[in-house]
Amino acid sequence: MPREIHRLGLDIGSRNIKAIELIESGENFYLGGFAQAEIPAPDQTAAVLADVLAKGNFATKRCITAVSGRSVIVRYVTMPEMGDEELRNAIKYEANKYIPFEGEDVVLDCQRLPEVKPEGKAGSDKEMSVLLVAVKRSFINDHVALIKGANLTPDTIDVDSFALGNAFEFCSLLNPKVSEAERVVALVDIGATKSNINIMRGSHSFFTREIYMAGNDMTEAISKKIGLDMAQAEALKREPKERLAEVQEAVTGVLDDLCHEIRLSFDYFESRFDREVESCYLSGGGSLLGGLEDYFEHTFGKQPLRWNPVEFLVPKEGGLPPDMQPSAPVLAIAVGLASRVKKA
Ligand SMILES: Nc1ncnc2c1ncn2[C@@H]1O[C@H](COP(=O)(O)OP(=O)(O)OP(=O)(O)O)[C@@H](O)[C@H]1O
Ligand SMILES: [Mg+2]
Repeated sequence: MPREIHRLGLDIGSRNIKAIELIESGENFYLGGFAQAEIPAPDQTAAVLADVLAKGNFATKRCITAVSGRSVIVRYVTMPEMGDEELRNAIKYEANKYIPFEGEDVVLDCQRLPEVKPEGKAGSDKEMSVLLVAVKRSFINDHVALIKGANLTPDTIDVDSFALGNAFEFCSLLNPKVSEAERVVALVDIGATKSNINIMRGSHSFFTREIYMAGNDMTEAISKKIGLDMAQAEALKREPKERLAEVQEAVTGVLDDLCHEIRLSFDYFESRFDREVESCYLSGGGSLLGGLEDYFEHTFGKQPLRWNPVEFLVPKEGGLPPDMQPSAPVLAIAVGLASRVKKA
């Protein structure tokens, strides 16, 4: 019997907490448990987390979680070639150029990246690309306190965009038929307050960005344009039925802005790496908006793919929880955290 490793991926979003337990057993992965719940107001996050954990009844108290937002700075920088120890020292000075939190105590992390020189373009062998992550220490401390308060131990703290990439790699592993090998794919996770982009080539992430525009902005636009309170607008957005055209019309401005920002990111990637973004995978609760795929197709000239990150997960016992499939795209980041195919 191979040894079983249980991993709990905990995605504490601004609107929704999602938790997934995966069991690694030899070459295989199984679903150990799942739970999610909405956060009605930010001061109820701890209570909702406790509910999610009670509902999921997970076998492990250790978790992998992620941070995101304006307190998290991610930069891809070019530095002179150097050894790992030298890099650890140099990064402190390098980071100062990019950190906007003056006088704040920050936690830094860095990772040497594989070859990222644009294809066909000469680059200096004396340079290397480095991924730099800087997070306000107070922000991490608050996140850790929230998790410890729920009697969990955070083993690793990742970043939403990287977890998204990890989830994609994990899904390709479970279903080699959809393996995107050396293709360039853009993963776009539309949450409540922000949308994450991760442009991957094969299993490597070459560009990540957070855009502060997502589901809440759509609800606000519906509320203003149609004259509903936020709760009514939220309900209409989720189930517009015969009012779909009205809802689509109300959110056009938000989608225009969001797609414009996504386009800018694609353009930046394409000009820097001389490679076209070949397909775009959508996830996150905001991606459930009716008609979103058509809107993306119209804007980018390509049908985006709705991504089901739990499609190939086999439960260890019993069937898949019935509430899991309908909200599957919301689970991408939690799956990425629980899978840890690649250690960040
Ligand atoms: N059926 C639906 N149609 C449209 N939008 C939906 C639907 N279901 C959920 N949403 C939206 O999805 C968003 C929540 O998605 P998600 O759980 O991915 O966000 P989050 O992770 O909590 O937020 P963030 O990552 O921004 O902190 C909300 O804005 C919600 O209104
Ligand atoms: Mg989220």
